[in-house]
Amino acid sequence: MQSTPTVSTAPAIPSVYETITRHRSIRSYCPDPVPEELLTRILEAGIRASSSGNMQTYSVIVTRDRGLREALYVPHMEQNMVLDAPVLLTFCADFHRMRRWLALSDAPDGFDNFMSFIVAAIDAILVSQNVALAAEAEGLGICYMGSTLANCDQIGAILQLPEGVVPVVGFSLGYPAEDPAPRDRLPLDGLVHQETYQAYSDARIREIYAEREIKGRERYMSVPRLRRLVEEHGVENLAQLYSSVKYTRASHEEFSRRVLDYLQTQDFPLP
Ligand SMILES: Cc1cc2nc3c(=O)[nH]c(=O)nc-3n(C[C@H](O)[C@H](O)[C@H](O)COP(=O)(O)O)c2cc1C
Repeated sequence: MQSTPTVSTAPAIPSVYETITRHRSIRSYCPDPVPEELLTRILEAGIRASSSGNMQTYSVIVTRDRGLREALYVPHMEQNMVLDAPVLLTFCADFHRMRRWLALSDAPDGFDNFMSFIVAAIDAILVSQNVALAAEAEGLGICYMGSTLANCDQIGAILQLPEGVVPVVGFSLGYPAEDPAPRDRLPLDGLVHQETYQAYSDARIREIYAEREIKGRERYMSVPRLRRLVEEHGVENLAQLYSSVKYTRASHEEFSRRVLDYLQTQDFPLP
């Protein structure tokens, strides 16, 4: 006897390509909480990411608590997503757990160095992007925050990270309250090299960034705060905006120092 087909009311999960191409960062959120069961499902998908030696040298910190998010708002450079999204995820390079296991197993431990930090950071970042895609496939929105690494020391203190643990990436997570258009990307053939690295001519560089110049500038000029910055700094093009307003040498040097000092504190010393 044939069984009666069941009619599912659950929304169809999009294909991985649909999820990837529909991605856009979400900076405005509904207050609705993310159900625990859903969060667990996307985190389970996240930890299926490849991992160096399958050591899984990362930790994911789920922050829902309002008080903690208020504390994190400051080192996250007062970005509204930290308060508005119901969940903040912080992905940390973590050799603490692995090294504890080595100690308990009477195994030698050579993981107090820069290479170990990079290995663990790569693992953490791969997991973060898996989690991001799983979340987006479920109708949630995310926005990465570069402040996670830039202010890793203050964020590490608030999250009570032990030695061997460093926050590398983090994002807000929740139901979108906006539906922004996908942002432009540089053309594929400007990013991909066949077989070996192909040198760029000046003309080719201009061509690769031509559309970005228009789209990027349009975007900055449409936001009053950013438009003011552009006008104040008298910048003439998008490249100048990037390096004389958004990502200055002074800020990158300051954040470099902060990250390097924190790596030292967290027992990932440079050679
Ligand atoms: C590591 C990383 C850090 C980021 N930091 C921030 C941030 O601090 N604030 C923010 O609003 N967006 C941040 N973003 C989001 C980018 O601005 C965004 O991904 C990019 O402009 C492309 O837009 P899209 O994600 O909507 O396609 C970050 C993205 C990455 C990957």
